[in-house]
Amino acid sequence: MRQRKVFIKTFGCQMNEYDSERMLALVGEKYKPCETPEEADLILVNTCSVRAKAEAKVYSFVGRFKHLKKKKSDLVIGVTGCVAQQEGERIVKRLPHVDLVLGPQNIYRLPEALEKILQGQGPVVLTEMRKDFKPPLVLAGPDGSRPVKAQVTIMQGCDNFCSYCVVPYVRGREVSRPPEDILREIECLVSQGVREVTLLGQNVNSYGKKERGYPTFAELIRLIAEIPELWRIRFTTSHPKDLEEDLMRAFSEVEKLCEHLHLPVQSGSSRILKLMNRGYTREEYLEKVKKLREICPEIALTTDIIVGFPGETEEDFKATLSLLEEVRFDEIFSFKYSDRPYARAREFSDKVPEEVKAERLTRVHELQARITEEINRSYIGQKVEVLVEGPSETRPELFTGRTRSNHVVNFLAPEGLDLKGALVYVLIKDAGKHSLRGEYLDTIKGP
Ligand code: 5AD
Ligand code: SF4
Repeated sequence: MRQRKVFIKTFGCQMNEYDSERMLALVGEKYKPCETPEEADLILVNTCSVRAKAEAKVYSFVGRFKHLKKKKSDLVIGVTGCVAQQEGERIVKRLPHVDLVLGPQNIYRLPEALEKILQGQGPVVLTEMRKDFKPPLVLAGPDGSRPVKAQVTIMQGCDNFCSYCVVPYVRGREVSRPPEDILREIECLVSQGVREVTLLGQNVNSYGKKERGYPTFAELIRLIAEIPELWRIRFTTSHPKDLEEDLMRAFSEVEKLCEHLHLPVQSGSSRILKLMNRGYTREEYLEKVKKLREICPEIALTTDIIVGFPGETEEDFKATLSLLEEVRFDEIFSFKYSDRPYARAREFSDKVPEEVKAERLTRVHELQARITEEINRSYIGQKVEVLVEGPSETRPELFTGRTRSNHVVNFLAPEGLDLKGALVYVLIKDAGKHSLRGEYLDTIKGP
């Protein structure tokens, strides 16, 4: 029989990338991955609805596959993830060529849904969410070309209800995966050559809090650090209100935990933070950063910023700029506020005009570009540890990887040396806006 093929397109965050990998593993016996939708027997579009125009983008992206269905009548087209959850039946009504709609909690039912569709019982729409949902363990099979780093979701969903955010509505309530599943999954990845793992969750600091007998997040990190042949641990995302001292201490005490923390602040104005329902003030955030830097002086910090939240005045916005100056993040991700379905802030008055949001975003970019460049330049002359991912895509004569602080490093190495997957020392010679440049010094651990 002809080998069936699956094409998957992933939008959005790392959790979606992880979910896409699970879906490929779930159908792996019957479908092999392919590079273009034209070759595929199964097309999956894993969607994100966290920011503006997500639905419109998905409708137009999936709309383009209509003609493929005409050529190949048994082609199965599925929409999964957060937009699938949000739109549900509307998707199959608006796009009758779609056979399958799966919300994030329902992606594990992909095999049974496919079976139904292939028996002519489609379309299948699965969007119910359960409070007691437990993501099952799905181990991805050995893959000859697995990259040296991988991601593992440790918890799903969110209970925080920040007033601008759709996530609690489309990903459901917070659930933590059992520690033994997480450890088994990481051990399996490590046996396939993975050396760095990023633990994923909407709010990893509250890992295990709702379950009886689970370790805390800081304890989980210590358990994971005991896996031999795992060299590096990272995690994302942390909520500032739940960042406690035990986790701060892990940065200085757990050798494998990389000194980088993504700690979304969203705004520098306590008034706006309150309207956002973030659960901390500017002063509390700055206090946590201070303490963290006392415990682990070399920690690199990154953050998320929203500009133009409803009611944000020029003064509130300036407070965000001054917070950026004060903290000096290594990198930030900044967004213009947009109304999201279900999120409370869509009902707020005093919406900020589009051109004001755009202007504020530019000012944030300009300020941060200067700070990032200054921080990057401070690396010049330093010897840094880099986990080598492989040759650089744009400059194949250079290798590329990341420092423990999560900065991208491109570097020259003596010809004939294959460093892919190795942990090496690099001397930083130059710094740009987005990356560091260096020269290979020596190898710490081989690939
Ligand atoms: N508008 C703009 N940015 C948003 N984010 C989440 N919801 C919105 C929204 N409605 C941003 C936040 C969050 C990141 C993942 O996306 O900064 O941390
Ligand atoms: Fe959204 Fe807030 Fe939960 Fe993050 S913590 S996913 S911003 S509700």
